[in-house]
Amino acid sequence: MENLDSLKNEILSKINASTDLKVLDDIRVSVLGKKGQITEMMKGLGALPLEEKIALGKGLNILKSEVENAIEAQKIILEDKALNEKLTTETIDVTLPIRPETQGRIHPVSKIYEEVVAIFGEMGFDVANGPDIEDQFHNFNALNMPGNHPARQMQDTFYLNNDPTKPFDMDTAYVIRTHTSGMQIRTMEKQQPPIRIIAPGRTYRSDYDATHTPMFHQVEGLVIDKNITMAHLKGCLYDFMKAFFELDEIPVRYRPSYFPFTEPSAEMDIGCLKTKTELKIGAGTDWLEVLGCGMVHPNVLKAGGINPDEYQGFAFGLGIDRLAMLKYGIPDLRTFFESDVRWLKHYGFTPLDLSSMTGGLSNNGGLAR
Ligand code: PHE
Repeated sequence: MENLDSLKNEILSKINASTDLKVLDDIRVSVLGKKGQITEMMKGLGALPLEEKIALGKGLNILKSEVENAIEAQKIILEDKALNEKLTTETIDVTLPIRPETQGRIHPVSKIYEEVVAIFGEMGFDVANGPDIEDQFHNFNALNMPGNHPARQMQDTFYLNNDPTKPFDMDTAYVIRTHTSGMQIRTMEKQQPPIRIIAPGRTYRSDYDATHTPMFHQVEGLVIDKNITMAHLKGCLYDFMKAFFELDEIPVRYRPSYFPFTEPSAEMDIGCLKTKTELKIGAGTDWLEVLGCGMVHPNVLKAGGINPDEYQGFAFGLGIDRLAMLKYGIPDLRTFFESDVRWLKHYGFTPLDLSSMTGGLSNNGGLAR
């Protein structure tokens, strides 16, 4: 029993002297582990005469629980010490600005707009901006659509009464532009060829269903120079579509069409395909109309003050919202303009993903979802 006392003192002083948790655990194993000092002594009890067995057994049990308690107490001290060390060494500066974990999202229309500008910018196009409220000269007349022209009925126009002191006059009324094509004229008025611009912006028509909203977005394109041909138009738009859908090849076709301001006119369709986001555009062997285009009509060049015998050009108008629906698989156009933050969180993009031709357009999973 005396031996037990000195053993106890020896063990307890080791425990109290331990300076880290690892050392403390080593002590525990060496004393209480399977082959530990106390464990071995307990194993040896069986060989002793009964009385000694009882006395020593009791002593060992007491020793064991004292050691356990001492280890537990020391463990708490050492854990506190470790935590304090961590707190003093791993400081954080709470005055630093917060991480750029943004809540806001970029609307798909803005994203597509940036992508379109990046692609045409790379091809050498400038971006032109013009008014939403337009006069009929720029929106219609100069585009080879005089007042009696039947094509005016092709677009359900919102007219504005520009002088509230007088009765509404259909001939002089302003319109909210039905397309961005007026920018062709505004550009020619300001600039001599060579011209290479895109003009993105809001457009308005009286229309409302899953694929039409009264306000929608277009990008007008205009190229004017000497010796511009339909082949330039086709090459330019084909390259655009490949870059936009981030594909090496893309089935396209041009269908003859009619616009008063282009001759000949065409509509461009793209074939069923898979985009980078694994979204299927179209179904089966379907073709989808994506834009209207053509060679600028001589009357339009004249209206813009450009000599059609010297210069030719091509123009196109594509729907941004339509492209967003296709590229990012958004089924209903009306939801674009409902300002539902849950929708935006799902379909929107993080502001840190910038679209560029070198850095990637949609940045492969740039989708915030
Ligand atoms: N302005 C036409 C539309 O809105 C599209 C277009 C633009 C067609 C330029 C030809 C050339 O439907």
